[in-house]
Formats: sequence, structure tokens, C-alpha cells
Amino acid sequence: MNRTIIITGGAGFIGSHVVRNFVNKYPEYHIINLDALTYAGNLENLRDIEEKPNYTFVKEDITDAAAMIRVFEQYQPDGVIHLAAESHVDRSIADPTAFVMTNVIGTMNLLNAARAIWEGQFEGKRFHHVSTDEVYGALGDTGLFTEETAYDPHSPYSASKASSDHFVRAYHDTYGLPIVLTNCSNNYGPNHFPEKLIPLCIHNILTNQPLPIYGDGKYTRDWLYVVDHAVAIDLVFHEGKNGGSYNVGGFNEWQNIDLVKELCKQVDEKLGRPTGTAEALITFVKDRPGHDLRYAIDANKINKELGWYPSVTFEEGLSKTIDWFLDNQEWLDNVTSGDYQKYYEEQYKEVKK
Ligand code: NAD
Ligand code: TYD
Repeated sequence: MNRTIIITGGAGFIGSHVVRNFVNKYPEYHIINLDALTYAGNLENLRDIEEKPNYTFVKEDITDAAAMIRVFEQYQPDGVIHLAAESHVDRSIADPTAFVMTNVIGTMNLLNAARAIWEGQFEGKRFHHVSTDEVYGALGDTGLFTEETAYDPHSPYSASKASSDHFVRAYHDTYGLPIVLTNCSNNYGPNHFPEKLIPLCIHNILTNQPLPIYGDGKYTRDWLYVVDHAVAIDLVFHEGKNGGSYNVGGFNEWQNIDLVKELCKQVDEKLGRPTGTAEALITFVKDRPGHDLRYAIDANKINKELGWYPSVTFEEGLSKTIDWFLDNQEWLDNVTSGDYQKYYEEQYKEVKK
């Protein structure tokens, strides 16, 4: 094994695609998936690679500083790809502290552990911090986020991610830690936890429940197929400039209402039902507090420097995503039982009435 890489949050949505890509593509690397298995972590996501000889799962919580030092001393990673996070804006509105603990303190614990074992010997080492476009705040009807856009987070989630980004850069500037950052737009695809818009709507269509659209539905997001994000992370981890950051996006903006209508159309087609069946479930509900109007990424830097561009169109990506959920209804049933029900009751009280 010529490299050992700790990937945090590898049992989650994006992390599982990153782990799969690295385990399959680099049999000469030892990939350690470090994950606390919160409500969002699910080892079912990695069944196809869990027996591979270059894969190890370690159940630890990144908020535990001593555990991070222990794991880093045991495995001596030369790379870290950090995805573990509390990731859902609505949950951050309900419980901001959990976001500070995992996203800020957890990130700092990993930075400290990397610094401790690398001891200033930074040649060949890399700490890749995976972040979001939400740190840049909200755009009006025009403009794009570039790597130079000033941070202006509004939700507790984005504030915690912005803070973690600042700590990662501070460790580079202060201690010379070799770092790279990626700030990506909204992902979608297989294994997406059904608290987020697209998988929540797929789940609700399949269970004949209302499709809750916040406010007037005119909020705009830039959507990227998760496998393309995993490819971007691989590229930046290996070839990104030390200390640099790269915006990753889908060149693919949709207003929520149009996106959900497109989703409804495709699901009806795939289920062989009359057009309009799913759309009839659309229900406008109370807006999210502090809701950012629009996110849109300028991903030209990663395109020009590293040659990355999304490989699938939105139509293809959405079709693959719906197919995956239709073929994996047991996965959906498993993750929506238990605690999910409590979360759903609380978050969507108004719709349930
Ligand atoms: P997710 O919520 O699906 O998964 C998070 C994973 O982290 C889970 O496996 C969970 O068990 C683990 N985790 C949470 N707290 C932990 C802790 N204290 N210790 C160890 N593990 C812990 O998240 P995701 O959507 O896959 O996002 C992954 C990363 O990508 C996050 O850092 C997120 O901010 C970033 N990101 C997400 C998106 C998106 O659209 N989902 C877009 C851009 C960036
Ligand atoms: P989400 O998937 O939570 O991602 P983010 O908030 O990180 O962008 O939400 C995407 C968009 O969809 C956002 O504008 C909020 C909206 N939304 C709804 O309208 N209804 C919902 O039930 C959810 C979860 C989101």
C-alpha cells in the first residue's frame, strides 16, 4: 500500500461515493473510512466494497479529540479527505450547537491530529476539506460565486462550514499544513438521505404524501450529480495547488418548483402513470427562515486548471437517480423508519395537518 488516506464521513451520501471511487480506482492505497454513523451514516451504502483488502472502517466521532489522535497515530495517514459533517440546513435551524460541535470543533480536531503526526514533515501530505457553496451566502437574480467571493453565510449550517473553512486556511497560513478546499453546489444522486429536497420528494411521491415546497418555490440551486463531485474531489486531492480552493458546480441552475415538476414528470413516466399524478401532490408550505434566494457556482477554475467538467447532463443524472431509488426501495424504507419519522413529524407539522 503506497498511501494511507483517512476519508471522514464515508458512510454518508457524498462520502460513500468518494470512498467507492478511491477504493476501486486506487487498489494500492489503504482507504480508512472514519465515520460516527449518525442518522445520516449508513454502511449499506458501501456493501459492494466493504470486503476489499484496501478498505477499513473505523467507527469514531470527530468531536472526540483524543480518539482522533489515537486513530491518526495508529494508521499514520498521509492524506485526509474530510467530509464528515452535520449537513442539513433545516436541522441546523433546530439545533445549531450540534453543527458547531461536528463542523467546527470536529474539523479542528482533525487538523490538530494531522499536525501532530506530520510534525512539520509536510512533503507528500495533504488535508482536503470538503465544503459547500453556501458559505458565500445568497445571490440575487444574476452573478456567480467565484473562489474570490467574500464569505457571507446565513444559516447555522453555512456559518459552521464557513468557520471550518477559515480554520483549515488558518492552519495552512499559521503552521504550513498542506491543504486544499473544494466548495461544491447541491449534490443529488443515489444514497441521498431523504431529508433533502430531491430524495424527500421521491420518497413522498412513492408513499403518496404531499411534496412540501418552501415559500413560493422560486429559490434557485445549482445541482451536480454526486459521482461528478467524487471525481472532482479525486482530481483536487491529487492535483490541486497547495493552499488552493476550487469551486465545483453543475452549470445547472433550477428553481425548486421547476425542478420538482420535472422530477414528478419523470417519476410518472417511469411508473407508467398519467402525467400530473405526482404533481398533484405539490404543496406550498411556510418558508425556511433565512432562506437563501439563489446559489450559482462559477466552476471555471477547476475546469481550466484541472480539466474537470460534469460528465452527465441533469436529465441523465436525474433519470439515474430516480431509477436507483425505484430499484432500492428497501434502502429508502430502512432509512425512513425510526428516528426519521420523528424528524419528519416535527419539520413538516404544517403539511401533516
Ligand atoms: P451526509 O449528512 O449525508 O453525511 C455525513 C456523514 O458524516 C455521515 O456518514 C455521518 O455519520 C458522518 N458524521 C456526522 N457527524 C460526525 C461526527 N461527529 N464524527 C464522525 N462522522 C460524522 O452529508 P453529505 O451530504 O454527504 O455531505 C458530505 C460533506 O459534503 C459535508 O461536509 C457537506 O458540508 C459537504 N457538502 C454537501 C453538499 C450536498 O449537497 N449534500 C454540497 C456541498 C458540500
Ligand atoms: P435542500 O435539499 O435542503 O438543500 P440546501 O438547503 O442545502 O440548498 O434544499 C434545496 C432547496 O429546496 C432549498 O431552497 C430549500 C428547498 N426545500 C423545499 O422547498 N422543501 C423541502 O422540503 C426541502 C427539504 C427543501
